[in-house]
Amino acid sequence: MQVGQVAHAGPPVGAGEDVDALQALVNLEERQATHPFWENRLFLACKAGALRLEDFRYVFSQYYLYSRNFTRYLAGLLANCEDDLLRARITENLWEESGGIDVEKRHAQIFRKFLQEGLGIPDLAAIEYADFSRYFVREYLDFILRGHPMEAAAFLSLGTEGIVARMYGIFVEGLTKAGVPEEQLTFFRLHMECDDAHAFTLQQVMLSYAGERGWHARCADAMERALTLRTRFFENLYDAIQMRRVRSLLEKIQARKSLVANSEGGGFRHPAYTRGTPLYTNAIEKLNIDFAVDKLPFQAEVLDPRMVRIPPGKSNEHHRHAHETVFFVLQGSGYVLIDYAPQEVKPGDIVFAPRWCMHQTQNTSNEEMLLLAITDFGLTGKGFLGDYDKTARMKRAAAAK
Ligand SMILES: [Fe+2]
Ligand SMILES: [Fe+2]
Repeated sequence: MQVGQVAHAGPPVGAGEDVDALQALVNLEERQATHPFWENRLFLACKAGALRLEDFRYVFSQYYLYSRNFTRYLAGLLANCEDDLLRARITENLWEESGGIDVEKRHAQIFRKFLQEGLGIPDLAAIEYADFSRYFVREYLDFILRGHPMEAAAFLSLGTEGIVARMYGIFVEGLTKAGVPEEQLTFFRLHMECDDAHAFTLQQVMLSYAGERGWHARCADAMERALTLRTRFFENLYDAIQMRRVRSLLEKIQARKSLVANSEGGGFRHPAYTRGTPLYTNAIEKLNIDFAVDKLPFQAEVLDPRMVRIPPGKSNEHHRHAHETVFFVLQGSGYVLIDYAPQEVKPGDIVFAPRWCMHQTQNTSNEEMLLLAITDFGLTGKGFLGDYDKTARMKRAAAAK
């Protein structure tokens, strides 16, 4: 249906105003497409493949509260819309959301199946919703119920259904990178196909009010409200993922309980000059790189002591990472570059490499260099959202074996 054919619930719209409304719609769609919402940290992490299956379990168990209430948002608009033809169109959306004649195909049910079979969450009744998830859903419903139907329609079309294809494309990318198979992504694929049509219907409702005073600005505000609410929800989810990754560590810090029992088999002493467990090696002739890293057999939680060995005349990689490191030079001499500033080292020297600084160790002596590197990888490895190996290493750890 073209804009000019829309049944008008508000005052009649003249031909000139139709053109203005179309122009306004183009403007609103541009604002939608370039909204800061698209740069929220949850999306960035998704696209970077930084989210693991357990992160997505959390994200979508919270999203479930929104998803299973979706037909209520449409029903809110339906109740407030004065025009019976437009109500009939919204009902078509509702009918589709509800699975048509097969209630088992209602979208809330398809989402449930995704949670249970795609993400492995057996008991959906046990999900604890965060306050920010409840706030998001409550605000969604309230805006639609309390707002003018023109605003509710803009909120639901430009601010909601109209972003689904692109938004779910980002989720599909992240879920695929986290190992969720394509056959479990039906919920997202389905919406990527049908929600543009839903957005169009709701847009027609919005356009039917185009003759009302302040129409453009009020629709823009409504879209803004929906996108801002969702940005906050996603940013809160990102913060919660980070916190969940390190929470058990923080609990142990606070518990005042000895963790000696955790170290069973790991021991508390490592004899001088003996190897640990091989962790990583790399040799690149043209860069003069040749070194090996062993993990020392302590069951430490935050500290991650490692032994670095560099043959005479060689270097390790010029690299950086999220963990901070204290080096203790046991044997050999040379330089440690800290952000390109060479620190001369000999046995007994201690060097500190701050988080994310570029660093490299060069062994200029005639004997193998031995460095004890004490890192906080036990914390950063948990808390950093991203591909740690890709950040810290020149080659994948798996390839080093
Ligand atoms: Fe749906
Ligand atoms: Fe390092």
